[in-house]
Amino acid sequence: MMISRFQKISIPVFVFVTSFATQLIAQQYTPDLANGKKYYELAGCSGCHKDDETNNEFSGGSKFETRSGTFYAPNISRSN
Ligand code: HEC
Repeated sequence: MMISRFQKISIPVFVFVTSFATQLIAQQYTPDLANGKKYYELAGCSGCHKDDETNNEFSGGSKFETRSGTFYAPNISRSN
């Protein structure tokens, strides 16, 4: 496959601009914990990301057996 001159220039420019923009946005971002809690509850995230045995919120554990394999809802807390 031939890479055109436009692609040679546009790909590094795209990567540079998007990584720069992402850093700018991240610097100005302050988390809104109350808003996050609201959406976590509204969307029913704990239905899968709460461990039913230990009752630990965010720690994951729900198991999904599918034809493509078994999936586990992962731990989405900050702790391992
Ligand atoms: C129906 C069950 C289910 C619900 C409801 C659910 N999740 Fe998940 N979530 C999963 C599964 C299963 C995975 C892992 C997918 C995989 O292995 O590809 C996952 C992955 C994730 C991940 C990626 C974690 C990582 O380490 O890569 C995040 C973050 C996440 N979910 C957050 C949320 C949030 C926030 C909500 C609510 C808005 C939510 N989930 C609702 C089942 C669910």
